[in-house]
Amino acid sequence: MKRPNYRRRRRGVYVHPLVKLLILLLAAGGAFVCVRYYGRLPGETPGSTPVQAAPVPEPLPKTITTPAGAACTLTQLGPEAVHTGNLILVNNWTAFHFPEHQEESLACILDQRTESYYVKDSTVLLLPEALQALNSLMDAFKAQGSRKSVQIVAGHRTTAYQQHLFDQSAERNGLEHAKKYVAQPGHSEHHTGLVVDMGTMNGEFMDSSGDYAWITENCQDYGWVVRYETGKEERTGIWDEPWHFRYVGIPHATEMVRRDYCLEEYIDYLKQFPQDGEHLMIDCVSGQYEVWYTEGCEVYLPDSKLYTVSGNNVDGVIVTCRIGD
Ligand code: DAL
Ligand code: ZN
Repeated sequence: MKRPNYRRRRRGVYVHPLVKLLILLLAAGGAFVCVRYYGRLPGETPGSTPVQAAPVPEPLPKTITTPAGAACTLTQLGPEAVHTGNLILVNNWTAFHFPEHQEESLACILDQRTESYYVKDSTVLLLPEALQALNSLMDAFKAQGSRKSVQIVAGHRTTAYQQHLFDQSAERNGLEHAKKYVAQPGHSEHHTGLVVDMGTMNGEFMDSSGDYAWITENCQDYGWVVRYETGKEERTGIWDEPWHFRYVGIPHATEMVRRDYCLEEYIDYLKQFPQDGEHLMIDCVSGQYEVWYTEGCEVYLPDSKLYTVSGNNVDGVIVTCRIGD
């Protein structure tokens, strides 16, 4: 009878099935830990796992022609472009970015005003473009036969002065009242140099009644809007202020009034007109304009030079190109 081959069987190491199971469990656990925490199995080199390559974005063409036929060249603006220009949004949620040496760019209203209106004193300052537009508005107000005069009672403000006004208002009228009518220091449109508060000759704030209604109804034709109106408090964060006028330029003031948008709503609306999509066309007293928005600072600028560019102070810039009379 043939003897069983005990020798051959004895050559291998006998492992108890429970131990085998334990080793298997440990190996599976180890692999799980490696993949879960290191992203690969032992022995795998980093990156050896097949990973979906991120699609490389197509470079933008260097030149384009806009829907209205304006030849444009792709231009990289500096990051400060987002925070500079006539359309910047400044409110209690969006701080003003003070440019270096801002005081050098401000002009004194008393020195440069026309004789159609008055100003409190020589401390009231504005950016030159806004000051020219104020002169035009006040000249037109006078020319259409107003019996009332306007006195400009406020223009540019520093953060320290805004803080003083806020504290003074809170002390006199309570904190809740101050929050409704005085912007947080650093967040006031008055910091921009694009704003005036209009008053009467008695130094009181102007309302939009009587002769002054003409200003409220026509200011957009000179580039100005009444910034804080009843019904928009939720968006602007400020209660009705018929005396506070903001300069945004004629085409945008016209479009804002046509659509009954406050600046917060208008900045959102402009995002519907990206540079690679449909553009906004505005017809106004100063001509016809084509407008587009782009996120960031890489932007198509018209070769014609008949354009302005402004940041929205949030995330991008808006180009306003003159395309006709
Ligand atoms: N009165 C306006 C909201 C300001 O303080 O800027
Ligand atoms: Zn004001």
